[in-house]
Amino acid sequence: MTNEIVKVDLDDRSYDIIIGSDLLSSAGEYIRPVLSSNRVVIITDENIAVAGHARHLEMALDKEDISHDVIVLPAGEATKSFAHLEDLLNKILALQPDRKLTLIALGGGVIGDITGFAASILLRGVSFIQIPTSLLAMVDSSVGGKTGINTKYGKNLVGSFYQPKMVLIDLLTLQTLPARQLLAGYAEAVKYALVWKEFKFNEFEDNAFLWQDVSDISSKEFQQQLLSMVKQSCQAKARIVAQDEKEGGVRALLNLGHTFGHALEAEMGYDGRLLHGEAIAVGMVLAFAYSQHIGLCKEEDVRRVEQLLMSVNLPTSIADIDEHLQADKLLQHMYQDKKVDNGKLVFILVNAIGNGFVKKDINGSDILAFLNKMI
Ligand code: GLY
Repeated sequence: MTNEIVKVDLDDRSYDIIIGSDLLSSAGEYIRPVLSSNRVVIITDENIAVAGHARHLEMALDKEDISHDVIVLPAGEATKSFAHLEDLLNKILALQPDRKLTLIALGGGVIGDITGFAASILLRGVSFIQIPTSLLAMVDSSVGGKTGINTKYGKNLVGSFYQPKMVLIDLLTLQTLPARQLLAGYAEAVKYALVWKEFKFNEFEDNAFLWQDVSDISSKEFQQQLLSMVKQSCQAKARIVAQDEKEGGVRALLNLGHTFGHALEAEMGYDGRLLHGEAIAVGMVLAFAYSQHIGLCKEEDVRRVEQLLMSVNLPTSIADIDEHLQADKLLQHMYQDKKVDNGKLVFILVNAIGNGFVKKDINGSDILAFLNKMI
């Protein structure tokens, strides 16, 4: 498999996303050109360490004489907290870093988000590199510079836009990813096709059979599918971020399903029962259903989206998550969302599959009535 390179064009903050198989073994060679000194700190989580990826990266850095320390955080969304951020910053400071240090985020979206945020505030800013090991991080969160942590008020409410120096994607690391995590990433890849016509939803429908059993993803056919999905998603994300880095316009479409999804995650308490991508799967179906409810899109489109996600064993309804969830509690979380504008809710809605748009001025009472109908 030859490597693919996708460029994120952001003037002096431009960077490459390198995608390939077994890149971790030569990671030192790839990252050396973007290091400011010979020193890095790898931030990873317990699962990634157990899977051997941290050790593998350390060996690759040794080959290039790049000095490295490793900090291992607990796995899971609960790590994106003030407490863990403080602990992480203190652990790095104890290593007496200087501003030429580079942090390496080796892990999924949680590690990427907290490491990126730590890099943006440590010594008023040090460089960082993303080495995503989950499909979700490969197709979305490792690209584009959104960093941050969750608070008791909701998801990603404290953070920064801070671009990495490079994103290195080794598809081989997906072989140790649990099936649930793989499918959570699939949901975020489908998102591009739900809001933009250029990404063909029918290709997802045609390939869905491959995703119905993800217990062995090592076949040539599956590896090809992963390469093409990750490459297309990175190309889409790179194009959007280059146009609208700070989400003044088109980037907001990437939040399809996120107002519903973040509320579901906040209500479930980030304890691992609901993964981010699973919440987004349900949130995207709800965004389609709400669009249909107010007469914007056809029932057939809602059914196709629901059918695709259901066919690969993703949750698609609130009842699939927890039948005791309450509409008024979910609504409260939605008012804490970053997207709230002048006290009104903002949603990404659709006219059809492949045609998303931002809808402002939505009344909470309408959403409450809709959620009560859906629960
Ligand atoms: N994950 C959505 C974005 O990066 O804008």
